[in-house]
Amino acid sequence: MMIPSVTFSGKLKSMIAWSVLVFLLLSGVQTKAQTPEAEKNFAVCKACHNISGPKLIGPTLGGILDRRDKAWIYKFVRNSTAVIQSGDAYAVKLFEENNKIPMPPNDLTDAQIDDILAYINNGGKVAAQYIVAEPVNENAAREKELAAERELQAEKQADMKRDANRSFGTTFYITIAILLLVLIDLFGTKIIKAKFVHTTIILISLFVIGEITYKEAAALGRQQYYQPDQPIWFSHKVHADQNKIDCLYCHSTAEESKYAGIPPTNVCLNCHNVVRQGKITGTTEIAKIYQAVETGKPVEWIKVHNLPDHVFFSHAQHVNAGKLACAQCHGEVNTMNVVMQVNDLSMGWCIDCHRKTEVQFADNAFFQSYKELHEKVKSGEIQKVTAEMVGGTDCMKCHY
Ligand code: HEC
Ligand code: HEC
Ligand code: HEC
Ligand code: HEC
Ligand code: HEC
Ligand code: HEC
Repeated sequence: MMIPSVTFSGKLKSMIAWSVLVFLLLSGVQTKAQTPEAEKNFAVCKACHNISGPKLIGPTLGGILDRRDKAWIYKFVRNSTAVIQSGDAYAVKLFEENNKIPMPPNDLTDAQIDDILAYINNGGKVAAQYIVAEPVNENAAREKELAAERELQAEKQADMKRDANRSFGTTFYITIAILLLVLIDLFGTKIIKAKFVHTTIILISLFVIGEITYKEAAALGRQQYYQPDQPIWFSHKVHADQNKIDCLYCHSTAEESKYAGIPPTNVCLNCHNVVRQGKITGTTEIAKIYQAVETGKPVEWIKVHNLPDHVFFSHAQHVNAGKLACAQCHGEVNTMNVVMQVNDLSMGWCIDCHRKTEVQFADNAFFQSYKELHEKVKSGEIQKVTAEMVGGTDCMKCHY
């Protein structure tokens, strides 16, 4: 008789355990919404934390609630240094394991942190009710298209770089020499009898000289492949690729302002207060950060990309409204140890993209006033709306 009762109590236990678990899961889903605000707040954390996958600057946060209770997390997220200094054994060990990089303080309430935790628990997605039905397949197709386009662009850039490095000087002088010889023969030595030979050679050389002059003149004032040495050996490869720091962590104004901006020295200090040595340059380059702070002199970064003053360009328009990736205009900066300008920033480059690139037209308040275009889309007269159709090639949009 003993055996069944044991089984029964075992069953009961596991039933209770299961109901508690289910209850917890359900109540978790219902009371803690994973709101878009959580996504926004988590953007700061994303520079240092993955939700799943490899460790970045700090630990991967998936399953954090299995490791720590909420009271501890509230305190740590708001002021990690205080928790470490209080002698909390777990915190001290964690700090040691993470190369003693201090996590910056965060001005967040318990409720906001709960929201972030729910968002983490949900695998880094906002709750279903906040997700505006997005045409997922279309996005995937667009991604593929963009990837293919980027690849093509990379090939084109390699070609163009080869072209740019090829010096036209020698060809230019040889052509002039041939032209002179032919002219001398035509009017003086008369070795070649048939006049059409002279004419053909003269025409060809004039064409070649014209072509070279035009190309050189057009490139004047542009600085494609400009790659100046910077005052500090700051590597995007080390930061954006190896340490997975988001572009917007440092270029934080790219979404809302005309300028993407270069981060001030105190942003570097967020990490370099503690990271005092690099694998490639040792302490010499990082020491320049402290020097800048001590002397109060900002680092004099050399600007790589420069448009002439008569051109208007806004990052917000392209990054936020246009949803373009940085790489579409700047190339794969995350692979560069030293930043290089890969596109020529010519008027033709801007306009070419405006002709080809579709804008998010349908439900965009920004384009409400384009009544005629909306009707044409509805009637099926046009399939897609490009930047050109909404004024992207009007002289006044780009020129003051
Ligand atoms: C500049 C990098 C950085 C940012 C930004 C950052 N953290 Fe951290 N975080 C760390 C590091 C490094 C640790 C490891 C502890 C230490 O070294 O102090 C850590 C530890 C943690 C831990 C404990 C992890 C564990 O496994 O026990 C939590 C929770 C956490 N961070 C949450 C957050 C949240 C939430 C945000 C955003 C509001 C955030 N962090 C922003 C660097 C960062
Ligand atoms: C840790 C901070 C940091 C991160 C992360 C970062 N950058 Fe930078 N970026 C800088 C600094 C500092 C400079 C100025 C020095 C230089 O040109 O290398 C700069 C310069 C640039 C420039 C050249 C600006 C000019 O002078 O014309 C571009 C373009 C750029 N970054 C794009 C990116 C992109 C794209 C990413 C993400 C893949 C990124 N950055 C991530 C700090 C950062
Ligand atoms: C549509 C093309 C385009 C896109 C997309 C773009 N940029 Fe730029 N970026 C430019 C041009 C053009 C300049 C030169 C602007 C000037 O000289 O006025 C520039 C300049 C910069 C600079 C120098 C500082 C400044 O603000 O002028 C940085 C840094 C930069 N970009 C970073 C970024 C980052 C990071 C992203 C992605 C979030 C990005 N850019 C997306 C075209 C683009
Ligand atoms: C979010 C954290 C973070 C920020 C912000 C940051 N860095 Fe770093 N930096 C790192 C890490 C991590 C390393 C890699 C250290 C190593 O090699 O192990 C590093 C390495 C370096 C190195 C040495 C590279 C090498 O391998 O020798 C230099 C120089 C440097 N950073 C300069 C800067 C400058 C300048 C800024 C501000 C514009 C900046 N960093 C901002 C995290 C950061
Ligand atoms: C990679 C593609 C691409 C490149 C390169 C590009 N643009 Fe654009 N541009 C766009 C898109 C897409 C839009 C429409 C964004 C939107 O939805 O509002 C746009 C919009 C604009 C607008 C606003 C037009 C309007 O209707 O108000 C201006 C101004 C502009 N771009 C200037 C420039 C300049 C100047 C350059 C070159 C230095 C440039 N763009 C390069 C894609 C590009
Ligand atoms: C999408 C943005 C854009 C539009 C639209 C645009 N431009 Fe430009 N324009 C530029 C840029 C960028 C430059 C400077 C690039 C360079 O060095 O080639 C430029 C340069 C120029 C220059 C100076 C040429 C030089 O060699 O310095 C003139 C003149 C000019 N544009 C006239 C026009 C006229 C006229 C229109 C209307 C038909 C127009 N632009 C429309 C972006 C634009």
